[in-house]
Amino acid sequence: MMPSFGWTTYDVSSQLPATWRQDVRRVAAAADFRDFPRTPILSREATQVDDVPRGRVHADQVLRGLPWLHQFYRGPFLQLARESRMERVETARDGRYGVVLNVQRGANMRFECHVDSNPLTGLLFCTDHGAGDGGELVFARDPGAVGLEAVERDCSVIRPHAGHLIFFDGRRHPHYARPLAKISDVRIVAVMNFYTESCMESTRPLELNRHLYGDS
Ligand SMILES: [Fe+2]
Repeated sequence: MMPSFGWTTYDVSSQLPATWRQDVRRVAAAADFRDFPRTPILSREATQVDDVPRGRVHADQVLRGLPWLHQFYRGPFLQLARESRMERVETARDGRYGVVLNVQRGANMRFECHVDSNPLTGLLFCTDHGAGDGGELVFARDPGAVGLEAVERDCSVIRPHAGHLIFFDGRRHPHYARPLAKISDVRIVAVMNFYTESCMESTRPLELNRHLYGDS
């Protein structure tokens, strides 16, 4: 029997600043859009895939452009993350990967199929995507799935709703974000890393930091 995959959803839209969606769109417009090479260790892309196009707003840009998001990460969102787990949960100490934005613009971008190294991930969806719009977050039920075809064969699908915050442990189940259907559409999600006593920040693979930031 396949291990079950689960997630927790909170609607936090009423807690966020009145202009949060415009703020996020403004900062996301300055994202680093390019082909990102496959991630060492954690990638679950098919072997022939060398890179995946997408946009990223780095943690320092988030800190400067969306200071309220950082405050939520270390405050109210951390409290919600703690409610979802039996053990102590902490935010990342390393400012390079605390909160980042992943951005998809048009129909060619998607997010790489991968597993997480951190034991708890929080995603704040910043844009809405209805049926047929694409942009869904897809989790393979089979931990051994490699490549999009294998993931899509048997999966849980989460449709993004702006203002919904979800928490999950993505270490076992490969996941990716589907491309958008329309070339005029934009998908923005804030990604937050959390750690626990049984899987502390010190366990984050050094190779991952070298790949992303050029050092350890
Ligand atoms: Fe992930």
